[in-house]
Amino acid sequence: MNRVIAIDGPSGSGKSTIARLLGQKLGFLHVDSGALYRIMTLAALKGGIDCNDEKAVAALADEVKVEFVPKDGKVAYLFEGEEPGDAIRTPEVNAAVSPVSKVPEVRAVVTGWLRSMRELGDIVVEGRDIGSVVFPDTPARFYLDASPEARARRRHLEEVGKGIAKQTEEEVKASLLGRDKIDSSRKTAPLKIADGAVVIDSTELTIDEVLATVLAHLPTGEWE
Ligand code: DC
Repeated sequence: MNRVIAIDGPSGSGKSTIARLLGQKLGFLHVDSGALYRIMTLAALKGGIDCNDEKAVAALADEVKVEFVPKDGKVAYLFEGEEPGDAIRTPEVNAAVSPVSKVPEVRAVVTGWLRSMRELGDIVVEGRDIGSVVFPDTPARFYLDASPEARARRRHLEEVGKGIAKQTEEEVKASLLGRDKIDSSRKTAPLKIADGAVVIDSTELTIDEVLATVLAHLPTGEWE
């Protein structure tokens, strides 16, 4: 069976950067699970659905069709025939994605999608519940964390770099702390440290140091 590396943690903890670099280094496809919850949210917003209406969101979950295509070292997602790009990274999607992703029907659909991606090759999957729920049997489970200030600073810089910044660093911090709260307290698959996961606090570490720590903790020999 193809191998899975699970990287969980809150927003801005460095998951995406580390998962991408790790994928490049090891030849594993990078899978961004948060982007799938964001696509679900975009679909709800486009359909005029109230994202706090659990029943309406649950009814939508099965209707959303996404294609998965290995591309440039990652699994790319096609929604309505194209990659959604920054349309899933707007403040509107940021504000609605936590209520959408706490709906069990949404989680069941996204979990099924993620498990099916293992067929595409070895994968490094970033998210909130990858080591605890989606792939609990993988021996490569990591939990990245950082202080709220460091996480807000990184997220804000990332948005500035992409030219999509619409909020100050303080507003970014408030938004991500709000999401953390819902993500960690929801009933289904809350953000938590998976049993046995290697915990890395990246607040004071460089990207290279985090990467080296992850590499040093990967299983050795044959594993799956
Ligand atoms: O990683 P991100 O910020 O793009 O994730 C967006 C939201 O999706 C996050 O607030 C919680 C949710 N999410 C989740 O519930 N489970 C995952 N495995 C990944 C993301």
